[in-house]
Amino acid sequence: MPTSLNPASTPSPSCSVVVGLQWGDEGKGKLVDLLAADHHAVVRYNGGANAGHSVVVKGDRYSLHLIPSGILYPGKAAVIGNGVVVDPWKLAEELDGLAKRGVDTSGLRISSRAHAVLQYHKLEDGLRENLLKRVGAERAPSGPDQAQGAVPVSEIGTTRRGIGPAYADKVQRASAVRMADLSRPEQLREKLAIALALKEPMLRALAPEEPALELPKVLDQALAIGARLSPMVCDTTQYLHAMLRDGKRILFEGANGSLLDVDHGTYPYVTGSTCIASGVGPGTGVPSTRLGRVLGVMKAYSTRVGSGPMPTELKNELGDRIRVKGREFGTTTGRPRRVGWLDLVAVRYSAMINGATGIALTMLDVLAGLDELMVCSAYRVGGELVRDFPPDAYDLAKAEPVYARMPGFAEELGACRQRRELPAGAQRYVEMIEREVGVPVEVVSVGPDRAQTMVS
Ligand code: GDP
Ligand code: IMO
Ligand code: MG
Repeated sequence: MPTSLNPASTPSPSCSVVVGLQWGDEGKGKLVDLLAADHHAVVRYNGGANAGHSVVVKGDRYSLHLIPSGILYPGKAAVIGNGVVVDPWKLAEELDGLAKRGVDTSGLRISSRAHAVLQYHKLEDGLRENLLKRVGAERAPSGPDQAQGAVPVSEIGTTRRGIGPAYADKVQRASAVRMADLSRPEQLREKLAIALALKEPMLRALAPEEPALELPKVLDQALAIGARLSPMVCDTTQYLHAMLRDGKRILFEGANGSLLDVDHGTYPYVTGSTCIASGVGPGTGVPSTRLGRVLGVMKAYSTRVGSGPMPTELKNELGDRIRVKGREFGTTTGRPRRVGWLDLVAVRYSAMINGATGIALTMLDVLAGLDELMVCSAYRVGGELVRDFPPDAYDLAKAEPVYARMPGFAEELGACRQRRELPAGAQRYVEMIEREVGVPVEVVSVGPDRAQTMVS
């Protein structure tokens, strides 16, 4: 019986993950692009085309949805892991868009195990949202549920990109289509026949006016796009492990945000995947023990797209001002993002569940010019002070923010290149975050460009 572990048999962690600590759009794309320089591969492990990651290089803006942000570095491997749900048409569109701009995408690999988002998933996503909206409108604001203090049903405010229905099919199994299936005509026909038999009655009930799904047409479309993408489809688990055996470093790119995580987020106002760092294992086949660095990205304030509680939301002129200065309009849907003060209860929780080893603080420049900054350090729930983030949306909806006030800073920050160049008010804000979250701020970002970044 061995009495001790042999340290030599334990592979040293050589990988990093970039993960959002709020409700998405924290600036993960920018940070992944930055860190990619130091890694051999960039890998997506969750989400799908609901993600919108912007990278600005020398004034040129790139918006990426499915392709890892590291693609902008020539010679890097870019991998879409098995945990991603791939809309193959959106992916082809994104590849074409990058090719037109001269970006080499030949290093892209797509997991054969990743599930495909098909047209009927997107249709279902939209129809479910419409239904929830209708039901919600019938109940609010004075319906019977309201009288009992329940949170009314409402649409989730999804991106309508078919994410939830595709993940649901993955768990249902028999009818789900993996990327490998798109090149197996007989297998695909079988799966689609089951899928259509299951989906048609529901789609008919929700949208009688929609034309019926026809198997030959759905099959032909799926095979055509499968043929286009098949050269990139492979066993990415083996591919990544071969890289690790060669001593290569891998960077994992989280999509969406920790508060949108299907288990740990503000359920049910969440997305369908594991967004937090531990999603790397199931979403790529690379064990999470390989992660040496967990970089949590957070904005200097809060934003959220879609429905669900947001205790620090600013539904006023100040919120509008921050939205405009921070260009807070969705990269994927163009929707205006809800804006609020920094919520440290939420960020502390996210840092904890991710095991964040460092923080990248973005959008600090957006707060310049405000006389006073408010920071939510705790909630009040039914007269009690609470410092722990509640487990779901219904509990969070009852939370009132308790604010600490801080003096603002007048100076614009876009030209700062060293942390010590930041005005005293901005430095105090960064130090306050480190103290409150208990994780070092390793990166401060003061603008969208690669160059507008301070690394300590
Ligand atoms: P992601 O989904 O987390 O990758 O974030 P998005 O790309 O959807 O949204 C972040 C937006 O903020 C993008 O438009 C970025 O170009 C921009 N951005 C990133 N960092 C900063 C920053 O420090 N300051 C400002 N003003 N904009 C930033
Ligand atoms: P990135 O990677 C912001 C939100 C949607 C909606 C909820 C569920 O750019 O940070 P879904 O379509 O996933 O079923 O929608 O999740 N959402 C995001 N919000 N940024 C994202 O991604 C998001 N991905 C999903 O707005 O509220
Ligand atoms: Mg985004």
